[in-house]
Amino acid sequence: MSEMFQGVCFDLDGVITDTAEYHYRAWKKLGEEIGISIDRAFNEQLKGVSREDSLHRILEHGKQVGKYNEEEFAELAKRKNENYVEMIQAVSPKDVYPGILTLLRDLKANGIKIALASASKNGPFLLERMELTSYFDAIADPAKVAAGKPAPDIFLAAASGIGVASEKCIGIEDAQAGIQAIKAAKMLPIGVGKAEDLGNDIALVPSTSYLTLDFLAEVWNNRKTAK
Ligand code: BG6
Ligand code: MG
Repeated sequence: MSEMFQGVCFDLDGVITDTAEYHYRAWKKLGEEIGISIDRAFNEQLKGVSREDSLHRILEHGKQVGKYNEEEFAELAKRKNENYVEMIQAVSPKDVYPGILTLLRDLKANGIKIALASASKNGPFLLERMELTSYFDAIADPAKVAAGKPAPDIFLAAASGIGVASEKCIGIEDAQAGIQAIKAAKMLPIGVGKAEDLGNDIALVPSTSYLTLDFLAEVWNNRKTAK
């Protein structure tokens, strides 16, 4: 059997808890305020994407590029975040998605390093609220990476934070941009979601409850390695 993976880099929103839904609602509300309609299909293109890049995509989608100056743009991004932050105040350990806590425990018990590779500046706050911070050996800081997802930077920062080569890591994501980032970082991706959103060339689970250590090991052992 090939050597086991040594690290797992987790996305947060939509993988560890349901905050992807809150991001969607907060963008939808802002969209309504500025006359741009955001539906779930378009929202797939926002998942995993930084706050500023999301707003750029939204303005493009609404054909409003150039309508706001730098200061107004920053104000819109701030407004969305304030609304979002209000929504996540009540997040608690009860909100951790099924299977995640057991997976984190099993990874730890097996000496596999755990990192957070979230684009969200609210990530550390959410881990605290869910009482998960102590499981993470490293939290990559999205403010310190040059390029957001789909660029590999945040996953590379996460791997470097746990001192594991990215080729020895599994990355877990619910977003198109995130899967692209994992692939670009040369990690093995596991997607939480549907093939129509995430592609049919990677391992997928319909829900986090399938994310057991055994399943990760199976995906790892079945991966295609370059000859
Ligand atoms: C990602 C979310 O995890 O974080 C995106 O999927 C979000 O929807 C991004 O835009 C940035 O989050 P925040 O909390 O810094 O605005
Ligand atoms: Mg996500």
